[in-house]
Amino acid sequence: MTIEGRDGYKPTYVSKPERIPRENGLYAKTKIEAFIRYCKAAEKVFKGQKSIGKIEHIVHFEPFCGPGWNQTKDGSSCFPGTPLRAVQELKHYDTFIFNDYDQSIMDCLYSELKDLGLEGNPDVQILLSVKDANYIVQNIEAFLPRRKGKAFPFLGTVIVDPEDLHFSWPSTEILAKKRLDLLEMVPTNIDLARNIKNPSAQNYVGNWLGEAPVSEDLSEVLGQYEEKLRKLYTWVHGVSTSPLPESHYI
Ligand SMILES: C[S@@+](CC[C@H](N)C(=O)[O-])C[C@H]1O[C@@H](n2cnc3c(N)ncnc32)[C@H](O)[C@@H]1O
Repeated sequence: MTIEGRDGYKPTYVSKPERIPRENGLYAKTKIEAFIRYCKAAEKVFKGQKSIGKIEHIVHFEPFCGPGWNQTKDGSSCFPGTPLRAVQELKHYDTFIFNDYDQSIMDCLYSELKDLGLEGNPDVQILLSVKDANYIVQNIEAFLPRRKGKAFPFLGTVIVDPEDLHFSWPSTEILAKKRLDLLEMVPTNIDLARNIKNPSAQNYVGNWLGEAPVSEDLSEVLGQYEEKLRKLYTWVHGVSTSPLPESHYI
């Protein structure tokens, strides 16, 4: 596994006490678990496609990756986030792309990845960058496996896990063309619910949604988003306020 900074990012090792776990509620554990369980289930399908030569690579991409660790606000629980879980548990993936716009957060993640001691297998690469998530999605071709300018066939997953509605609809449209299953966390309770009722935030919500919200009702706006996703993706589980039910895992 090789770890490489891309697009101008030079990874810096930070010592343990300087590393910054994200503070959040225990809900994050459920969210991370749901993301990783989906990726593991999908991995079985990707592995099958690779074994019969239909694809050459399996890719995992996180444009909002975080520092690698989460801790509850009272400090009672500390648990790994999606990037650390992904590289350790998705054994058949060979390309991991992690991005966060905060340099200190990326430096933390780099140190955590280094300390896993997974280096040695040159067939697995981790690419790190420090850019805005929408920028990185627009430039994702430069990170995807290629040889002599020719794209390799691949399948994989992308986790979009922002804290707010800053993931723009044009980015969602770009991802839909990339043969990556999209798992998106929509911050429904705080950012969306509050802003759809705020006339001065219509552009902010519209940037994520791709058009003006149809109403001030949360479930109607989520339904609107789901309809839009259905035009882009062949299979959409649905936009709900809870993780995928057990029956949806392969
Ligand atoms: C919810 S956290 C990700 C948590 C991670 N999935 C985990 O399991 O630990 C969101 C991260 O996105 C980063 N972020 C927020 N806005 C961003 C943007 N516009 N572009 C890139 N990163 C952003 C934040 O710095 C934060 O670390």
